[in-house]
Amino acid sequence: FERSKRMVIHVSTNGEFIPLKWNWPETWISVPAVFKDNFSSIYDFEVRNDDVFIVTFPKSGTTWLQEATWLLLNKLNYEEAKRRHLLERSVFMDISTLYGEQTNKGDSVAKAAELKSPRCIKSHLPAHLLPRQIWQKKVKLIYCARNPKDVVLSYGHFLRGKGAYNGSMEEFIDDFLNAETLYSPYWIHVYTMWQMRAEPNIFFTTYEEMKQNLRGVVERLNEFLEQPPLSEAQMEKLLNHLSFESMKANQQVNPTEVIKKSGRPGADFQFMRRGIVGSYKDELSVRNQQRINEWSEQYLNKFNIKMNDIF
Ligand code: A3P
Repeated sequence: FERSKRMVIHVSTNGEFIPLKWNWPETWISVPAVFKDNFSSIYDFEVRNDDVFIVTFPKSGTTWLQEATWLLLNKLNYEEAKRRHLLERSVFMDISTLYGEQTNKGDSVAKAAELKSPRCIKSHLPAHLLPRQIWQKKVKLIYCARNPKDVVLSYGHFLRGKGAYNGSMEEFIDDFLNAETLYSPYWIHVYTMWQMRAEPNIFFTTYEEMKQNLRGVVERLNEFLEQPPLSEAQMEKLLNHLSFESMKANQQVNPTEVIKKSGRPGADFQFMRRGIVGSYKDELSVRNQQRINEWSEQYLNKFNIKMNDIF
């Protein structure tokens, strides 16, 4: 995103709907300027009682959790999952509000609206900018957070790889820390949802937890979605299906080819890149790791929590 095209949006919530214990007087987000014209189509989106929203800061494990959620919600319908791309089964509702007509792929909010129930809708927007009926109707919302050092790397590789960011990784890290990358600021995004994690309509997990205990997350998710318990054979099959290797090879969930067709990515672009926890350890300089740690500390001190409380 070129800086000239970005803007910062401030939204006052007055705590009207969102069950946040710490009431932010206002929040803001880095988005392209065109979002301002399209924002109300999301904010005023007509929510159905059985909708499920999957919300993340980008590169935090959205696709992984989307596939798990869609399958659990759809009685493990692998046939349909094989026939239709995840991007169609679980629409990313923000996309056309961010790019306007540049996407050339129709109106993503309308596409989300047209999904058959129970709809499984993806968004990267922070709590305050999501459809406000989510908070009024208290529909299910699934959130996944990922540690910021892996997020910045995954995000930087993704945007640079697909030709959407022209600077170096170092410049990208600067932008991320300055909350100038799309959907930033990161910590407000994560913290507001973490704070609401005990609400009955919120499911909170982390990429790290999914890596450590996918079975446990799937069991908890299945219960949250009010679906019948899985047999051992069903669980085994699902865990297999959700493994990094299997999802990377699965063209109906891995968007690499779709992105290659629509954008300007280099030949070596891979959406499913490493799929591990701690890729920063061998990809980020010690200095950059320290910078991100110090930046995180500032937020965490303000929130009066520790990194370990979330991750
Ligand atoms: P890396 O770039 O670190 O490999 P999102 O879906 O939110 O855009 O997140 C993408 C990140 O999740 C990428 O991280 C991708 O490899 C990882 N990912 C996707 N599916 C995964 C899976 N089944 N297991 C582990 N990681 C997965």
